[in-house]
Amino acid sequence: MLVIIKEDYDKLSAEAAKIVADRLRKKPNLVLGLATGSTPLGLYKELIRLHQNEGLDFSKVTTFNLDEYVGLAPTHDQSYHYFMKTNFFEHVNLAKRFVHLPDGMTKDVNAFCQWYEERISEFGGIDLQILGIGQNGHIAFNEPGSSLGSRTRIKTLTKNTRQANARFFEQNEEVPKYAITMGVGTIMDAKELLLVANGEGKADAIKGACEGPISAMAPASIIQMHRNAIVVTDKSAGAKLQGSYVDSWENVVFD
Ligand code: PGA
Repeated sequence: MLVIIKEDYDKLSAEAAKIVADRLRKKPNLVLGLATGSTPLGLYKELIRLHQNEGLDFSKVTTFNLDEYVGLAPTHDQSYHYFMKTNFFEHVNLAKRFVHLPDGMTKDVNAFCQWYEERISEFGGIDLQILGIGQNGHIAFNEPGSSLGSRTRIKTLTKNTRQANARFFEQNEEVPKYAITMGVGTIMDAKELLLVANGEGKADAIKGACEGPISAMAPASIIQMHRNAIVVTDKSAGAKLQGSYVDSWENVVFD
């Protein structure tokens, strides 16, 4: 696992974008796994800038988002469809037919989840999966206690996650209780992982993910078992790490 600690949020976003852009330039038909949340916003902003100013081309890229709330239509302003559309999709040249998100309005959740897994396989698997991390160590909506071998399925959100999300809804009762999420096993099948974390609120989660015991109670800790995992944090999120880490992936010399 490669851990990169940057000075601040802007630098961590630029670093993460540099990694995505590098993989995309090397493989124009990249299969890219996408994440929502406040942390990847800076990364998406930088990718948009690279598209607009330097012609970074997404026309052959396929995307798969990690998760979506159950019961929110794509037009709902708190749905992840809407988040991705407004913060990324409508600013780059992705082809609509190559864009995938879990369908929170599906009538048959199990059939949909199976289709999503098959669709990922059809495209040859995810090349690079972008990830955030929850304060409780979740990745996607794989909350503590999620099976480390899990596949795309419906999950009940924890109280902690619902509280963290409540700020986006007018009434607490409106905060969704369920989500469709890629499983931990689905995420681990990606050929490369890129986890971004920002702020002191994430310091314990990052410590657990990078240096803690591997446990279903801290689902992000499984990335220690991945062959190609990169973690990019700002100083505060990386503050509790004890190992010695680099400040740029370009400075890493591989044997
Ligand atoms: P955040 O969410 O980037 O908004 O902190 C991350 C997550 O919960 O996965």
